[in-house]
Amino acid sequence: MANQELKISFQSFEKIEDVESKLAHLLHVARNAVHEAYSPYSNFCVGCAVQLDNGQIITGFNIENASYSVCICAERTALSSAITQYPDAKILSIAISTYQQFQDNDAPAFPCGVCRQFISECEDRNENKFPIIVSGQSGPIHVFESIKDLLPFSFGKNDLIK
Ligand code: THU
Repeated sequence: MANQELKISFQSFEKIEDVESKLAHLLHVARNAVHEAYSPYSNFCVGCAVQLDNGQIITGFNIENASYSVCICAERTALSSAITQYPDAKILSIAISTYQQFQDNDAPAFPCGVCRQFISECEDRNENKFPIIVSGQSGPIHVFESIKDLLPFSFGKNDLIK
């Protein structure tokens, strides 16, 4: 028997002015994207911005459905849009921001499990890890170097032996 320990490191910042300028700009875009969210059922708005190596920033937001299980998260709309429009571009970073309508809650909300799995595949496909910035509309900002820090022991293409 061996006790194992898992260490996850990430950076936290109090305010956007403390964040490196390119990541700060991407977060600014993600914070604005929440206003496009279609979330009449949860009133929980999520915006996501994807920085590509061709200079483009692709945004996405959550899109809900009266048939609740059909809802799509912001991370997956943004990444699907980025990959569809620019399949050959590399992802340099992504920013995710949340906003809860009618509530006094601006705490950062981290990507759901399905989105972590989706981002993990995007990172593998990308062949380079990329940072993930998570924040509310203001307040603390968390930066993870790789999705693997949010999804340890991930399942991926290497598990499917041909
Ligand atoms: N949501 C996201 O857009 N991303 C996540 O990672 C978590 C949840 C959305 C889905 C749904 O529209 C709303 O937030 C409440 O769950």
